[in-house]
Amino acid sequence: MARSQRQHNKRMNPFDRLADRHRNRPKIDASQGHSIAFSRSTTRRLMELIDANSQGNVHGGAIMRMVDEAAAVVAIKHSRNPSVVTARVETFNFLAPAFIGDLVSVHCELQYVGRTSMEVSVEVTAEDLITREIRKIASSYVIYVALDENRQPTPVPPLIPADEEEATIIKQARLRREHRKQIDDALKNH
Ligand SMILES: CC(C)(COP(=O)(O)OP(=O)(O)OC[C@H]1O[C@@H](n2cnc3c(N)ncnc32)[C@H](O)[C@@H]1OP(=O)(O)O)[C@@H](O)C(=O)NCCC(=O)NCCS
Repeated sequence: MARSQRQHNKRMNPFDRLADRHRNRPKIDASQGHSIAFSRSTTRRLMELIDANSQGNVHGGAIMRMVDEAAAVVAIKHSRNPSVVTARVETFNFLAPAFIGDLVSVHCELQYVGRTSMEVSVEVTAEDLITREIRKIASSYVIYVALDENRQPTPVPPLIPADEEEATIIKQARLRREHRKQIDDALKNH
């Protein structure tokens, strides 16, 4: 970005800057696919008092918010589109509690891409920074849809496996998606 443009952006108020950023998006070639590794991402945060529930553990909602934010990062990185919306939280399993003072890490990777939708697999761990014990505390699948300037679903790049391991992950995710569609259709007709 040119220096004068940067100075101009600095002078804008944050709302105009945000609107400007969305208006002047670079054109993305949606036919150019990416691997799973391209967008894989981990978000970490130390759990503080503000994250507590009434029992003094970490509130489930605090973990859910972290998951939604962390998984969206993956969808944005893959699609290179800042306008992705959460369409569905497919599953959300709480496996063990997290405690104030734990370092919570949300590990996210894209496993399935449709035309405009992206399914992110999420694994959440909590680390006791003193004992260094790491526990798996939650898992989830979250589906995002990319939107264009008119807030309509817009195509995203395909997911291209980089190796055999990625190919297997994508194949399993496709089976999962087909299975879910069958359940959705059965429930609709019920
Ligand atoms: C998600 C949303 C954009 C989908 O709009 P829509 O008009 O139903 O879009 P379409 O029917 O064309 O579907 C678009 C894609 O989304 C997928 N999709 C839509 N709803 C879905 C759901 N509930 N679960 C899984 N996938 C879904 C479709 O399968 C399709 O995928 P594909 O293009 O990869 O085949 C719309 O429902 C919406 O805006 N929801 C609110 C999102 C929101 O506010 N989230 C919370 C804050 S971020």
